[in-house]
Amino acid sequence: MKAEDCTYVIYGATGNLSRIKLIPALYHLDVENLLPEGCTIVAVGRRDWEQEKWQAEVRDMLEVKARKGVDEVVFKRFCQRLHFHKGDIKEAESYGSLAQVLNDTKKFPQNKAFYLAISPSDFGDTIEMLSDVGLLKEDGGWSRVVIEKPFGYDLQSSQSLQKRIDKYLQEEQIYRIDHYLGKGTVQNLLVFRFANTMLEPLWNRHYIDHIQITHSEEFGIGSRAQYYDTSGAMRDMLQSHLLQLLTLVTMEPPASMEAESLRDEKVKVLKSIRPIPKEAVNACAFRAQYVSGNINGEKVNGYLQEENVPADSVTETYAAMKLYVDNWRWKDVPIYLRTGKRMAKGQSTISICFRQPPLQLFRDTHVRCTSPNWLLLGIQPEECIRMEMTVKEPGLEMSTRITSLDASYRKEDEHQTDAYEDLLLDVIQGDRSLFLRSDEVEYAWRIVDPILQKWAEERDYIASYPAGSWGPDECRRLFEKESQHWRHTLTPEC
Ligand code: BG6
Repeated sequence: MKAEDCTYVIYGATGNLSRIKLIPALYHLDVENLLPEGCTIVAVGRRDWEQEKWQAEVRDMLEVKARKGVDEVVFKRFCQRLHFHKGDIKEAESYGSLAQVLNDTKKFPQNKAFYLAISPSDFGDTIEMLSDVGLLKEDGGWSRVVIEKPFGYDLQSSQSLQKRIDKYLQEEQIYRIDHYLGKGTVQNLLVFRFANTMLEPLWNRHYIDHIQITHSEEFGIGSRAQYYDTSGAMRDMLQSHLLQLLTLVTMEPPASMEAESLRDEKVKVLKSIRPIPKEAVNACAFRAQYVSGNINGEKVNGYLQEENVPADSVTETYAAMKLYVDNWRWKDVPIYLRTGKRMAKGQSTISICFRQPPLQLFRDTHVRCTSPNWLLLGIQPEECIRMEMTVKEPGLEMSTRITSLDASYRKEDEHQTDAYEDLLLDVIQGDRSLFLRSDEVEYAWRIVDPILQKWAEERDYIASYPAGSWGPDECRRLFEKESQHWRHTLTPEC
């Protein structure tokens, strides 16, 4: 797909996301010669910065983030694309002045992408004001809006936001981002599932005992208390990224990789998830908060001691849940999802546990290691696909061990790209397959909404876990069977 010249407008350009992800991603696209020649990048921010000052800021961002250091030739070209526009997102005049600037067709291509890296509470107003000054019209070229997560705060607020932006935008103009879909290892999941025949016959309730999807972080909430304390782990990670991973693991093969086919299949999965009634929330979901502990030998604060966290907060920094996809393929296969901050190790993994084989035939031998087969998909930091098998140990005795077949993703000399590079490029290429459709967001909220409601009502107690641990032991109660347990590693367990 060829990218056309365009103007990329970044709202919240001086914020964290832009510094750490967006500007570096655009720079790396430029390094790879993937940005169209006429692509300009307009940063909108409140500061009174001259172009030189903005360029110096960008340089600082890239000094930290450029994969191979800043390439002077590319940086010079990149600087020519950069413009800084002083404007406050809350003030209508700033949209008028931006429209005036962008109307200079000699300087700014009329295809426009607006990236809203701003507080979610400002999405609606910003879109309305962009529309008021005509910037969302598509008469001179396309106009697209990229909306960061979270899209809404719960089912009702996401429906209201959708209703509001429907007045100004066609669905084709909206790019709801979930950066997990831009990760190479996540895309590889689809390739692994649908470009190989071997696993397909096994990918169902007859052979799979259960599935686990884990995202754990060693980091705490840093300086994000203002956002995080009103969000919590369920909204921040589970409703979005982890449910997306679930759809990719469980969906049926799409008719094509084209956006609508792919999203149709994902929505079908979300619609098939067994609803959790409010009275069943405690049996199907678990929340907890970290207290002080040790991470890599260093003592760290508990959540309540973090900067700007209210002393009586019951916001969860750990959330886990058990879901069932009630369709022909997955009926009664439990899918366990969990995420937490300040855990023992930072990693995103999908672990698929196959059913136990009948082992009676080995009963008079030394075969003790009766571990089931696991398929382990490392999303990050370790990128791997491993199938654990039981094999005979060399020697005269009949004893066994676990070995893993490795279908690892990236070779040593192949460099890693960031999820945002892929997604920012997709926006200008008009490819929405890795972005969320409105019904997808809505059905994801429907799944977690009863849990959020129940947790909002029960505010007197929250379980805790020491920072640096794998979360509270009580969470075990989610498991359906004694034999099931959280899988923490990607290496054989026995
Ligand atoms: C973000 C969440 O969407 O994803 C953060 O708001 C979380 O709290 C982050 O840390 C995790 O993303 P990644 O790409 O680092 O796994």
